[in-house]
Amino acid sequence: MTSLPITLETEKSLFFHNYARLPLAITHGEGVWLVSDDGTRYLDMIAGIGVNALGYGDKRLIDAISEQTAKLIHASNLFMMQPQFELAAKLLELSGMSKVFFANSGTEAIEAAIKMARKWAGQFGDPEKKEVLSLSNCFHGRTYGAMSLTAKAKYVDGFEPLLPETGMIAFNDIADLEAKVSEKTAAIFVEVVQGEGGIHRISQEFIDRLKELREQYNFLIVADDIQAGCGRTGKFFSYMHADADPDMVCLAKPLGGGLPLSAVIGNSKVEDVLSYGNHGTTFGGNPVACAAGIAMIDAIYTDKLMENAATVGAFMSDALNKMAAKHPQILEIRQYGLMIGVTVDKEAKYYVTKALEKHVLINATSVNVIRLLPPLTLSMEEAQHCLTTLDEIFTEENATAAATATEKSF
Ligand SMILES: Cc1ncc(COP(=O)(O)O)c(C=O)c1O
Repeated sequence: MTSLPITLETEKSLFFHNYARLPLAITHGEGVWLVSDDGTRYLDMIAGIGVNALGYGDKRLIDAISEQTAKLIHASNLFMMQPQFELAAKLLELSGMSKVFFANSGTEAIEAAIKMARKWAGQFGDPEKKEVLSLSNCFHGRTYGAMSLTAKAKYVDGFEPLLPETGMIAFNDIADLEAKVSEKTAAIFVEVVQGEGGIHRISQEFIDRLKELREQYNFLIVADDIQAGCGRTGKFFSYMHADADPDMVCLAKPLGGGLPLSAVIGNSKVEDVLSYGNHGTTFGGNPVACAAGIAMIDAIYTDKLMENAATVGAFMSDALNKMAAKHPQILEIRQYGLMIGVTVDKEAKYYVTKALEKHVLINATSVNVIRLLPPLTLSMEEAQHCLTTLDEIFTEENATAAATATEKSF
């Protein structure tokens, strides 16, 4: 095999142009650090977009993957496999729910939940009870159903027509919620903490009203915990902060310890909604991914990583708020465990580039939000390293702006 140059030029020649990659070729990781092909170490505050909860090189995770790989990599859902059973039982114990369906990615979990919600609604005899609603600024994925719920121009332009009987409620707008919900509503999908939307939390008032309206109109609440779940916000499920009492919850990202795995977990209302052949996927619940998921969840509890996310996240939020007092570029900080959004006064991509130059990896979302989703293992010292770097970047930017203003005044 010839060794291809791993450059953006080669990337352009090989792939469809749907990913805006950083000019960085990664070879491996150690703890919360990624190492590039020239040996440079980068502090990773992205964690594979919220996937690598344990960072890189966790021996328990590697052993679980290696042992399961040696035994069985794939057999399909024609058979019963212990890692699937064990992970399902763990998720049911953690959620207090009734049944699990495993898929491979976040968008597939959402797709399955949409199908289950419509089939569930069908039992009430009203052929119009099909409507699936979501909240403005949300992100649920890129397959047709999930994209129809996401419905932002950036994601849907050119791909219409979307799934019919979908609609959007303005985020945290109770009057709009009351206006949009009706007997036709089958389900409402919510991210208790919106990730791609810029780290915004649904208000308690909105959740409480949503639950009241569920009693009145008989629809399902589906919590999309794909980004905010698995301990990232300081509790295993982010909806636990808001007592959202969902009927279904979707998990993905860290669930397979870095391997592709997602889940829909449903309560007793939906436990019998699917029948044989109704839904399925060849790879869903792959035994290696499930073994990794078990090791990942065990490590979260053994190492008290949710407590760590809460403590280190609060430390970062305090420090960022202090930074905001001296740097006018910082407009707002929103922090839920180790899910942190910093709204800035320009495109956040600017800071991604500056941080990359200083060997810290951060992410931009929602145009002007710096998003930090580090491994849940992040220590205070590593958090401080990120904070010091950001402070340097804001300080240098202010110094440059001041120098330019002085030049202009002469
Ligand atoms: C809240 C949420 N839902 C769904 C998805 C889609 O997941 P995937 O990219 O695995 O399809 C994402 C991905 O970022 C997400 O953050």
